[in-house]
Amino acid sequence: MGSTPAGKVAFITGGASGIGAAFATALADQGAVVWIADRQIGPAQELAQRINDAGGKAQAVELDVRSYPSFERAVAEALRYSGRIDYLFNNAGIGAGGEVDSYTLDDWNDVIDVNLRGVAYGIQAVYPIMIRQGGGHIVNTASMAGLVASPGIASYTATKHAVVGMSKALRLEAERHGVRVSVLCPGVIRTPILSGGRYGRSNGLTEEQQLKFWEPLRPLAPEVFAERALRAVSRGKAIIVVPAWWKAFWYLERLSPTLFLWASRSSLKRMREMESTAD
Ligand code: NAI
Repeated sequence: MGSTPAGKVAFITGGASGIGAAFATALADQGAVVWIADRQIGPAQELAQRINDAGGKAQAVELDVRSYPSFERAVAEALRYSGRIDYLFNNAGIGAGGEVDSYTLDDWNDVIDVNLRGVAYGIQAVYPIMIRQGGGHIVNTASMAGLVASPGIASYTATKHAVVGMSKALRLEAERHGVRVSVLCPGVIRTPILSGGRYGRSNGLTEEQQLKFWEPLRPLAPEVFAERALRAVSRGKAIIVVPAWWKAFWYLERLSPTLFLWASRSSLKRMREMESTAD
């Protein structure tokens, strides 16, 4: 497929908020038809309205990525109206903050259901359509936590590592069908997920402390993230790290996993210190 989104159809899970909403807006600005698929249907409809009022082309559709029938319904609706799906942004995600010794079973299951099963379901629902079309681009949102160990969010880290691995394997398989696969590894982006998000859970820190915790990692505005990430997507990059300076952590991890683990202790220590003052 061509590299510019003009006239293409994009299906974005978790499109009502944060990174997904920024993708929807940017892609519509570039002339794509965008499907904003989200469990939060109200905000999805409001965003679609704003995009349409500004002269773009957007539709909202209710989707719970944890349910395959829900995925099938939403994708069928997009296909019925738009005739094809050129981009699948498997972007919906949640986090469960806190150390594993504080987890409930739900802290594992909810995160696995949304971040891993949800991505697999998206691929299962849309990849055959792209194969039939003879092209398309699947863009899975993982995280830097998919490339390096991130204490304090172990279930999230597990799912994001899985999404990176799955995306690399699928990229190689999909080449022969003309389907591209990219995986996004954002650093820290200023969105609601940083303090738990609508469906996730934060650790023991207050919302104010959460934001203070992330601040030294220079959170990027989602609009800036979307612009840079979409440029890399249009070039068909395999693993997309934005902001680029986060690649330093990834390189260090590959150079010396032991040294990286040692360095990561300081982040866990800081989190524990902040939690102890939150009580
Ligand atoms: P966000 O909380 O602003 O947006 C997540 C969206 O996913 C929300 O609209 C929410 O309603 C939707 N969602 C959650 N569960 C859903 C479900 N079961 N079915 C359908 N939609 C569902 O968070 P953000 O930051 O925009 O997250 C987008 C993606 O980026 C996630 O996969 C996240 O893990 C990833 N990411 C975010 C980073 C950040 O610093 N903000 C860093 C690295 C990765």
